[in-house]
Amino acid sequence: MPVRPAPVPDLAWTPEQADDLATRVLAVWRDLLEQLPDLPVTKGSTPSEAAPAVALPVPEHPMPPADLVAHLRELAFEHTTQVGHPAFFAYVVGAGTVPGAAAELLTAGLNANLGGYRLAPGAAEIELHLTRWLAGRFGLPEGAGGMVMTGGAMANFVGLKCARDQRLGLEVREAGVREAGPVALYATEEAHVVIRRAADMLGLGAGSVRAIEMDDELRMRPAALRAAIAADRASGVTPLALCATAGTTTSGAIDPLPELAAIAAEEELWLHVDAAYGGAAAFAPDLAPLLAGIERADSISFDPHKWLYTPQSSACLLVRDAAVLARSYDVEAA
Ligand SMILES: Cc1ncc(COP(=O)(O)O)c(C=O)c1O
Repeated sequence: MPVRPAPVPDLAWTPEQADDLATRVLAVWRDLLEQLPDLPVTKGSTPSEAAPAVALPVPEHPMPPADLVAHLRELAFEHTTQVGHPAFFAYVVGAGTVPGAAAELLTAGLNANLGGYRLAPGAAEIELHLTRWLAGRFGLPEGAGGMVMTGGAMANFVGLKCARDQRLGLEVREAGVREAGPVALYATEEAHVVIRRAADMLGLGAGSVRAIEMDDELRMRPAALRAAIAADRASGVTPLALCATAGTTTSGAIDPLPELAAIAAEEELWLHVDAAYGGAAAFAPDLAPLLAGIERADSISFDPHKWLYTPQSSACLLVRDAAVLARSYDVEAA
């Protein structure tokens, strides 16, 4: 007779046990909210302080709840930069919100898998509805849609893959980029580094991203863009996509979207707008005119976890024609 392993008891918690642990963790969170204004923004833990405190030997047996919660308390109070602190001004991150945090508890409790509609119909419909609604707020037409994803880096990558496939032809998905010859993407030096990284990851090469000259306010100069496109065409390079930024990370500069959209249309370039940081301006009537022209984009990356304060990490890629996502990403699985 084979010997059956004993059941794993710590996967089958009673609702009472769950409530007990969650209540203890809730107390850490409540204390943090109460004490936050009086805490330092950061204690500046060094690796020699943080590592021994938080990188515990992996235990063979469950930690008693009191020890586990004491560990979480130390992590939260001693070794975390408090981005929700009223005096935290540095860096482009949202503070998060209390409803967002409470929802995250339920999210983890449901542990939905969005890999198939039947696995999570409610979540799938929320994603579809939310991305269509956001696309509409940016002025994209009926038929636009998108996806929620891990961050602006991934949203830019996913959008630029649509650009690659639409401009080079869907055969590139099977054949790869070797046959396509040299291509060029256009951005500025102030564009986020993830644009160059996306070009690298797509096999186009980071060197295919041209750094177009900027004006005194760190915005792309349309005339310099035209000249770069002409020079590329003259030397046999295929202009592929224009990556405008609506709110650069370092200065908040917004590239001149109406002029750039006109050039993209004339030159048949995919227009991708990285609005990861600045996109929320579209929802404020007094700021929305700054983003005029974004409604002409083929794809937009947008990070609700920045200026909309949703919990990390919730970026979106929005596309003018939702069908391009299927064309770039559909696969037949066994
Ligand atoms: C303009 C812009 N694009 C892309 C990103 C990358 O976004 P994420 O950190 O969500 O991956 C950022 C982040 O600051 C950004 O400001």
